Amino acid sequence: SRVQDVKADKVELAKNMAFAFDIDGVLVHGDRLIPEGKQVLGMLNGDNELGIKIPHIFLTNGSGKPELARVAQLTQILQNPVHTEQFIQSHTPMRALAEYYNTVLVVGGEGYRCREVAEAYGFKDIVVPNDIVASDCTIAPYRVFTDEERASSRPRDFTKMKIEAIMVFSDSHDYATDMQIIMDLLRSQHGQLGTVAPDPVSQRIPIYFSQGDMLCPTEHPIPRMSQGAFRIGLEAMYKALTGVELERVVYGKPEMATYKYADEVMSAWMETIHGEDRLPENIYMIGDNPASDIIGGNMYGWKTCLVRTGVFQGGENDEESPANFGVFKNVLEAVQTACRAEL
Ligand code: G3P
Ligand code: MG
Repeated sequence: SRVQDVKADKVELAKNMAFAFDIDGVLVHGDRLIPEGKQVLGMLNGDNELGIKIPHIFLTNGSGKPELARVAQLTQILQNPVHTEQFIQSHTPMRALAEYYNTVLVVGGEGYRCREVAEAYGFKDIVVPNDIVASDCTIAPYRVFTDEERASSRPRDFTKMKIEAIMVFSDSHDYATDMQIIMDLLRSQHGQLGTVAPDPVSQRIPIYFSQGDMLCPTEHPIPRMSQGAFRIGLEAMYKALTGVELERVVYGKPEMATYKYADEVMSAWMETIHGEDRLPENIYMIGDNPASDIIGGNMYGWKTCLVRTGVFQGGENDEESPANFGVFKNVLEAVQTACRAEL
């Protein structure tokens, strides 16, 4: 019948659209649910007039926890299943680097969680700054090292080995120690602590950052500095100490590599939910940060929706990186408007 034909057409249209959700400032604030986030996911998971799953992935600059742990936490907060197969954190694409480097310094995050992240990615020999402090506390002269930290660290003689690359996975919890150790390694001969290379460039080991956000909204009334600010500090120090620019690689939104990775994840997720390994044509990015979510989505040819529940607090649209599909009060309004446009 005609009604059935119309429904079949709509089902095809629904499979040809998809959403990429930012997490902080769109679906949650820290560990607190934004209620429209739960509603939207219920709808996309099949609670809609077509009774069909509308493809969606999560694309966050968040970091510091293994994917498995973070999706378990988000599943609870959002009261909807979040699967690792549809989930990208800032450092998720960095798993590919495990093939190229054996011994790496992993920086950032709470306690030893980033060591767990790197283990899950398949890195074989993982060093964290505390391992180095435990081996020689004079490296970080102002650091107060607790017994607990000492007990959970893995000291070795780092002057006898080479660290092949530096991976900043998450926000530093101790800028002074982490910057000192990173600078020592960048200025060393091939990552051997205790040495200083005569020429700053030829023996320098590479450094990677999982994302470049300057600021991050937190419980504090004014947003706090994030990995981008830490990186700029390092770059300025490196230039002042060596006279040359620091070359580095940055992942996360709005970097192109992250969106390419997102395409792969989206196609694979389509295969999982609809048995079709292909990329939907109309992809909507829903984000709160014009400088990462929106500018990146615009450059990549996605339709971008800016919501007012996070970083963006401005007028009609962002002046520097305006969302091309529109600005919305919250994630529910954005998704409803996108669905009306497509179906
Ligand atoms: O800036 C760090 C992080 O909390 C941002 O997460 O989900 O808004 O990309 P998200
Ligand atoms: Mg956000």
